[in-house]
Amino acid sequence: MSWLLDSNICFLNHGSYGAVPQPVLQYQQAMRERMEKQPLQFLGRDLEDLLDDSRGRLADFIGVNKDDLVFVPNATVAVNSVLRSLVFEAGDEILVTDHIYNACGNAVNYLVDRYGVKLVLAKVPFPPQSSAEIIAPILDKVSPRTKLALLDHVTSATALIFPIEELVARLKARGVDTLVDGAHALGFLPLDVGKIGATYYTGNCHKWLCAPKGAAFLHVVREKQNFIRPLSISHGANSTRNDRSRFQLEFTWTGTDDPTAYLSVPQAIDFLHSLYPGGFLELVGRNHDLAVAGRKIICESLDVPPPCPESLIGAMASIPLGKIGLSAQELNLKLLREYNIEVPIVPWYDENSFVRISAQYYNYVEQYEYLARCLREVI
Ligand SMILES: Cc1ncc(COP(=O)(O)O)c(C=O)c1O
Repeated sequence: MSWLLDSNICFLNHGSYGAVPQPVLQYQQAMRERMEKQPLQFLGRDLEDLLDDSRGRLADFIGVNKDDLVFVPNATVAVNSVLRSLVFEAGDEILVTDHIYNACGNAVNYLVDRYGVKLVLAKVPFPPQSSAEIIAPILDKVSPRTKLALLDHVTSATALIFPIEELVARLKARGVDTLVDGAHALGFLPLDVGKIGATYYTGNCHKWLCAPKGAAFLHVVREKQNFIRPLSISHGANSTRNDRSRFQLEFTWTGTDDPTAYLSVPQAIDFLHSLYPGGFLELVGRNHDLAVAGRKIICESLDVPPPCPESLIGAMASIPLGKIGLSAQELNLKLLREYNIEVPIVPWYDENSFVRISAQYYNYVEQYEYLARCLREVI
């Protein structure tokens, strides 16, 4: 197997942190050695061109111009960079859904505390039976004060693919800018950031693209780039260079760090392409089919209906467990300690919990059968 994952663990949680294949890690290590052989040459002279190449490959992969794309260490940093760059007045509204990732909700709440911004919560039902059931409650919450909508492309706890292109278009038609948290989307589905057309879009390379940890991107439409600054202000702020935008200059250097995760992104893309004759798209289809099969096995075993149409999920699926006799954390640890299964158990409304399965290249059907048997035993 190309991954270093412990073969004693039934690992069904690619979604949380990703996992890096060995060829990609080896490339990263080679870059690190090159950096340490001559740090001045690498960081001071070679890095910008190396980053340009890597960013170019990523830009082509997600359908955008590379000048509008910057690397950031993770989606949390990207969301914070946008939220903390924008100017808000008391009473301005930021629209989010109840499927929002907790860390991003906290970033909005920071603005609530600091500027008197209002967080407006759209409740999206789980399970939704169609895209329309996701779109309607979000559009219902738009008001003349809505300054920004922060929406997930793929939700974390509920593992739903939101109809993001339609949401962005309909919000845009009502004058609302969008910040899309695509933490899971890259490598999970065929991603065309240009076509989605969000004002701001971030995605992680270290989850489903299988790049090393600490690699993500932020795409900002050109007319907004002057307003978006990195969390860490560095040399770019007063650079007199005019061969690239201030947006690029500022985000490309935010202080000394290890840039090798960013530089390994093309290797991760090549690796995913190499797994099947049909390349990346075949992998996406296979992972989706496996997630659907895994969900069916678990639902049948627990005697619950598959919660939402297959078209609303990708390579992950969340299955409601109902009220279980122990906390989500207790069940998670029990599955790990007694059955060697690594799978997230996520609390939801009304003491309901989900088990969220992931399906990556290294997973296979028998793992979901094993999880289904163990869940039956435990709950
Ligand atoms: C929807 C969503 N947004 C943001 C994040 C945060 O990603 P990171 O920790 O890489 O910043 C996650 C992580 O799982 C997520 O699921």
